Amino acid sequence: MPRLSARAVLKAALARLRMLDGARRIRDAVTALSWVAHNRRFLRAGGGDNLPIPPARLLMLTTASPSIEWFVQSGRAGADSIRAQLARHDTPVSEVRTILDFGCGCGRVLRHWANLSAEIHGCDYNPVLIRWCRQRLPFAQFETNGLEPPLPYPTASFDLIYALSVFTHLPEPLHSRWVAELARVLRPGGHLIISTHGEAYLDTLSASERDRFHAAELVVRDADAAGSNRCGVFFSAAYLRRHLAPRFLLREHVTRGARGNPPQDLSLLQARTSSSPPPPTSHRPGTAVPAR
Ligand SMILES: C[S@@+](CC[C@H](N)C(=O)[O-])C[C@H]1O[C@@H](n2cnc3c(N)ncnc32)[C@H](O)[C@@H]1O
Repeated sequence: MPRLSARAVLKAALARLRMLDGARRIRDAVTALSWVAHNRRFLRAGGGDNLPIPPARLLMLTTASPSIEWFVQSGRAGADSIRAQLARHDTPVSEVRTILDFGCGCGRVLRHWANLSAEIHGCDYNPVLIRWCRQRLPFAQFETNGLEPPLPYPTASFDLIYALSVFTHLPEPLHSRWVAELARVLRPGGHLIISTHGEAYLDTLSASERDRFHAAELVVRDADAAGSNRCGVFFSAAYLRRHLAPRFLLREHVTRGARGNPPQDLSLLQARTSSSPPPPTSHRPGTAVPAR
């Protein structure tokens, strides 16, 4: 039998006693308290961005850190990564008319679009996060959706959808169903940007998980916690291209390119139009697939 670490034994015992969630909340509260002074110093020094800052509980839920400095700066880096990736593909963000942040959390990235003239939307399946966004970020519109599709938007509503650290927590069949739903609400030719757990996580995978990763298959941990940070989903650019090919062209895949969500990859996909080249009819698992 494999030897379990003391931490794993404690986790299993707490889970059996149904105390794991409570223990996690206590751990988060203690961590948050230790950051109070740092957060105060950051805000006093003018590090904020003049928009309200979510409470530590919501910061922990979305970024797993109570640091306001990290929340503001990583959010800005995330928005800059999106802006730069679109610009490399001749789509200045200033010309995008409708944007959806899918799995927007407490608006860490979305808040950095406050000065755009575009219509900004955010959605998340956690109503607590959406309630905070609705009350505090009035320049955008917010909706709560279910863990499963659909979204409450008409077909072809958006020019740009992005999902940062969301597909990293969606196992099958949710994964495929959300790809289809995002394709529905994106206009033909519109862009989808997602961040993913890629090669940077190989060292954390077991040998059999690495085999699956290299065979362009999905690697899933804790599927029972789908949607939460506890569920981890890992895949390669080859998987992404094969899986999304019927609906999207993979325009660019940047290893560790999601600067606001390190060390995740950042992919730019474009919704197929009637004039797009047809999707490949076959796929050879394990082959390296360059973006095109
Ligand atoms: C790690 S957080 C990232 C939040 C935000 N995208 C960011 O980068 O700050 C993952 C977010 O995805 C949301 N989420 C997970 N599954 C979802 C689903 N099926 N629909 C909408 N949001 C979902 C969670 O509630 C959470 O806010």
